[in-house]
Amino acid sequence: MSAPTAPPRRRFRTLPDWAGPATRTVHGGRRPDLNAGAVVAPIYQTSTYRYPAAYSEAAAAGEVHLYSRHSNPTVAGAAEVIRQLEGAEAARLFASGMGAIHAVLWSLLNRGDPVVALGELYGGTTDLLRDFASRFGIGLHELTPTEAREAEPVVAPGTRLLWLESPTNPTLGVVDLARWSEAAHRVGAVVVVDNTFATPINQRPLNLGADLVVHSATKYLGGHSDLLAGAVVGSAAAVDRIDPQSTLGAPLDPFAAFLLERSLKTLDVRMARHNATGAAVARALVDHPAVARVGYPGWGSPAEETIAAAQMRGRGGMVAVSLRGGAAALPRFLAHLQIVEVATSLGGVESLASVPAETSHRRLSPAERTARGIDPGLVRLSLGLEEPDDLIRDLREALDRSAVG
Ligand SMILES: Cc1ncc(COP(=O)(O)O)c(C=O)c1O
Repeated sequence: MSAPTAPPRRRFRTLPDWAGPATRTVHGGRRPDLNAGAVVAPIYQTSTYRYPAAYSEAAAAGEVHLYSRHSNPTVAGAAEVIRQLEGAEAARLFASGMGAIHAVLWSLLNRGDPVVALGELYGGTTDLLRDFASRFGIGLHELTPTEAREAEPVVAPGTRLLWLESPTNPTLGVVDLARWSEAAHRVGAVVVVDNTFATPINQRPLNLGADLVVHSATKYLGGHSDLLAGAVVGSAAAVDRIDPQSTLGAPLDPFAAFLLERSLKTLDVRMARHNATGAAVARALVDHPAVARVGYPGWGSPAEETIAAAQMRGRGGMVAVSLRGGAAALPRFLAHLQIVEVATSLGGVESLASVPAETSHRRLSPAERTARGIDPGLVRLSLGLEEPDDLIRDLREALDRSAVG
């Protein structure tokens, strides 16, 4: 079965232009046409749909779905909320963040295309870019932290794609999305920003010049560590180019989409709490004797603070802590945590601590990790929605014990 030739029209309630993000999280996916006047959309757990006798008339009259690898009403509802929050024309959802990232690279790159990517990316993105480079001859240039923070960024002529992430995973660095987008557009490159850490509540890269935004919706958008999802967001023309026939075969499952839309309804309030707790924890750990360095968006340098203040509405709930005792202090620190769980991933209601050198960035060499500020004693904290004072106490007590013996 091939994709519909006419784009399906969406049937969502149109909100007034002035509706803000919190209103859109709650009402953005609302459909006026639900059976029995249901306020919440059901899970359309179907792979296929009765084919309308006259497809083009049905498409003109409203939303038409043919096969759930291409589109599904539950998935469309969650995509609609993310579309509105990012201030975009279109959004597509995938089975995971990596599914979304893969779809973008696969759709936009041809053999030999030059790509510029931030060196300080989620490790899985770097792994995939390097796979593309070695298998398809993509000319990959990974920006060093110094290059990434040039006041006047330079993108080489002929560059096809610029891949950015800010704040960066796991060190919480900040790069100037507007300036990099400008530099990329001067040479005709497409700009993609991974907005997973900030979410559209804290930062809207499309307003800063990005062409496409990607998300691991597994993280803050999903918010409860119980689903995997990815999103690609941008102009209709830009999103239409991403895996248009769904041949990558990684659509979001309707049940995951239902959970995602449910979670998005609380995104604004969750982010307010994550932002407050992230800042409070960063401040509470910075002077602890067992801590060498704390990474938090804007803390990298005065220039990063200026950029963060201009491009972010909140700084988020991720904090990077480098232990003074290095890798040797890690086991003791992690073993003494009583509330914060030791697990990878982020953005959920529960606080997590992970060690990037062993998880998200394990495929980088030790030298590559050092160049990116990922020292062996670095712990990445995702601060959840528990009592902020409980988290501070838990972390400080574990730090006290990490230093002993
Ligand atoms: C910034 C960022 N982008 C993308 C991904 C990949 O997303 P997923 O795990 O949903 O495939 C992750 C996962 O940790 C991430 O942190």
